[in-house]
Amino acid sequence: MIQLSYISTARQPVEPDLVERILAASRRNNPRAGLTGLLLFNGRRFLQVIEGEAEAVRATYQRIAADPRHFAMVRLGEREIESRDFGDWDMAYREIAEGGDLAALAEKMTGSASATVRALFTSYAAI
Ligand SMILES: Cc1cc2nc3c(=O)[nH]c(=O)nc-3n(C[C@H](O)[C@H](O)[C@H](O)COP(=O)(O)O)c2cc1C
Repeated sequence: MIQLSYISTARQPVEPDLVERILAASRRNNPRAGLTGLLLFNGRRFLQVIEGEAEAVRATYQRIAADPRHFAMVRLGEREIESRDFGDWDMAYREIAEGGDLAALAEKMTGSASATVRALFTSYAAI
């Protein structure tokens, strides 16, 4: 399995039900593809982590990359994993307030967040 993460910027103005639509698509498609993950959104930028078999992760990433509702996608990393950090969620979602303690959130969401995931959350807080 691999875990892939990226950040992107939502096209403005953000449609009010954007996140609901994304999560509906994730619930529809991710279980079938064996994918789990996390989506963070602060009203402007997304951070997404997608985990599963490499082929399925990359195919979904390609589809997401072609989505006109966001742009300026930057892949943060892709790594081999033995176990999932977000195994309980088709796509976990949190809305992030400015100045929130993301390291603590990472810990809370994953039980014992891997150093990689903690670092991801922390760097997202800094942008
Ligand atoms: C930030 C962002 C994250 C997304 N994450 C997912 C995802 O995890 N799974 C998924 O199937 N679609 C995701 N989408 C939606 C896809 O881009 C695409 O619209 C959707 O997969 C199409 O699904 P459908 O053919 O079932 O309508 C995401 C879109 C955005 C903008």
